[in-house]
Amino acid sequence: MLESLTLTNFKAFSRHRIGLAPFTLLTGLNSSGKSSVLQSLALLRQSYESGDLTPVGDTEAGLLLNGELVQLGTGQDVRYEFYDEHGPHIGLDVQGDGASARWSATYEQEADHLKLLEEESQAPRDAASLAALLPTLFGTGFQYLKADRISPQVSYPRSHHAVSSRGFLGPEGEHTVNYLRAHQDDEVTSEQLRIKDAASSSLLDQTRAWMQKLCPGVSLDASGIVGTDTVRLSYTFGSGASRSNAYRPTNVGFGLTYVLPIVVACLSSKPGSLILLENPEAHLHPQGQTWMAYLAGAAAAGGAQIVMETHSDHVLNGLRLEVKKGRLQAEATAVHYFRRSGQTSEVVSPVIASDGTLSEWPAGFFDEWENSLDQLLD
Ligand SMILES: Nc1ncnc2c1ncn2[C@@H]1O[C@H](COP(=O)(O)OP(=O)(O)O)[C@@H](O)[C@H]1O
Ligand SMILES: [Mg+2]
Repeated sequence: MLESLTLTNFKAFSRHRIGLAPFTLLTGLNSSGKSSVLQSLALLRQSYESGDLTPVGDTEAGLLLNGELVQLGTGQDVRYEFYDEHGPHIGLDVQGDGASARWSATYEQEADHLKLLEEESQAPRDAASLAALLPTLFGTGFQYLKADRISPQVSYPRSHHAVSSRGFLGPEGEHTVNYLRAHQDDEVTSEQLRIKDAASSSLLDQTRAWMQKLCPGVSLDASGIVGTDTVRLSYTFGSGASRSNAYRPTNVGFGLTYVLPIVVACLSSKPGSLILLENPEAHLHPQGQTWMAYLAGAAAAGGAQIVMETHSDHVLNGLRLEVKKGRLQAEATAVHYFRRSGQTSEVVSPVIASDGTLSEWPAGFFDEWENSLDQLLD
């Protein structure tokens, strides 16, 4: 498990250490630095996968700013503009899995590969050693799902490499339908994630059962389209004699397809998986947002690590309920509230107690209900 991340001169952060738990919630106003935290982890993962962190031959090691997971621009975009007290370099420090590593990169205004400083970085330069040192970040089971995900479509791409060799759903969840098709008979091994009254413990039946909690009566299938390199997703509603025809995603509400990558990411997670989720509550009704915390909480209780950016008080309350109900330990949670302070971002971290209460309630932290009610009752 990753225990902390320290960002130095990275985007909105001068220097900040962010503690990570099995289920970490990042929240706060717009443009307060939440996505930057997810991006820093995705940047390391992307630079590892491309070989930039561990180059062979004469190539220089560095951070790859633009790739499959994130497109951050150039040095000028990622270095904290008002750098000063912590020197001119960009630093990413990760602690976890009983180890720690540091990457310190030089600044070059127009470069999209920022060279690592040998003398300031502390991390193995070969891929196998790096994966062995920090398996949570560099091992199998990594997912990063951005806020902008796949919309309902008639067909989806079929990439053998993504779903079979890498087990990757894609940053927009674009490989989800093909993953579900290829892995539908895989067992959901985690007891916490398995819904008992589902037809079986297969990934497909468990996905259906979780989706039914969001939308009662729904079922779904993922199948190949013969003669093409695409796959199809279809939904049915009801059962027995009242069962509907198979509907295309484009003829079914947006929210179902939008949430599917998150359901599949959580259900296919294993102990040691790392799942980064950006605004998973998008397009979900309020009860569905609480359900999102139940789902991600179950993945965390089953041994995966979740880092989630959210604007949803229902997700926050859902997480508090998971703790209160005893499904997730209070110590397995971390909540960080981001806000701008002058030219940098600062973070307040209320602690969830075992009864679900929060240690503090900073101004602006999910207080809109109360603010509006005060004015309505005035
Ligand atoms: N190079 C930079 N130097 C200083 N601040 C930056 C830099 N790049 C982005 N920011 C700041 O980071 C914030 C955006 O961070 P982001 O993580 O996308 O926010 P959120 O996800 O909370 O909406 C903005 O306030 C922006 O001003
Ligand atoms: Mg964001």
